Amino acid sequence: MVGNLKMNLLSKSERDHYFESFKKELTGKKLENTEIVLCPPFIHLEEFSKLISDKVKIGAQNMFWEKEGSFTGEISPVMLKNFGCEYVIIGHSERRRFFSENDEDVNLKIISALKVKLKTIICIGETRAERNSGETMKVVTNQVKEALKEISRTRADQIVVTYEPVWAVGSDILPTSHEIMEAKVLIRKILVELFGKKYAAKVKIIYGGSVNVKMTKQVCLDPEMDGVLVGRDSLTPRDLIKIAEIISDK
Ligand code: PGA
Repeated sequence: MVGNLKMNLLSKSERDHYFESFKKELTGKKLENTEIVLCPPFIHLEEFSKLISDKVKIGAQNMFWEKEGSFTGEISPVMLKNFGCEYVIIGHSERRRFFSENDEDVNLKIISALKVKLKTIICIGETRAERNSGETMKVVTNQVKEALKEISRTRADQIVVTYEPVWAVGSDILPTSHEIMEAKVLIRKILVELFGKKYAAKVKIIYGGSVNVKMTKQVCLDPEMDGVLVGRDSLTPRDLIKIAEIISDK
């Protein structure tokens, strides 16, 4: 499960408070077969890397595709790797919406992340307007194909595809288990086309968008997803770990 902390934890004291409460909530929890990937803002990555264990990994929320040089304000995949990240989120709908990231950027970032062995959490999903006009399948298909262009199937175990309908992110409106299941089946089918059956099975497919403790069954267990990406509720360590427990108990 992925906790996307977004642009939160504004001070050292807020960060430390989160940190302590996360550690406390995690103590004594078994969480078998479940990995929590915490994705804090860049500025907190180094501190959060102290949490790394067999159960907890650290991820970034974004990166640039170049390795180093004159790219003011950007963060490179090599930096992420060297500061303890094992994962990076790529193509989140907020990046696509507020920073005009397109499928080509997403593809370049994925290629570059995989090159330094960062695992990629790729976000795809349709907008409300696209769903209403019956374009969900088309949009999802295109986004997955474009994201994974030129990517070798041998990287399959380093790829997580997150189905995040844009209309469900930050909205408290969730798709039904059936809708999530449909998207999952479609994504798996495209992966089989791209990578072949054996390698496609190594890609994890998770759900994101308004996940909370109460809805974990509907969005993860019932549609048999491999996990979830949690935004707002990841800011409450108790909820985040509760969700991890529900997933781990399945
Ligand atoms: P949310 O965010 O859980 O607050 O809807 C999900 C996300 O980051 O995609």
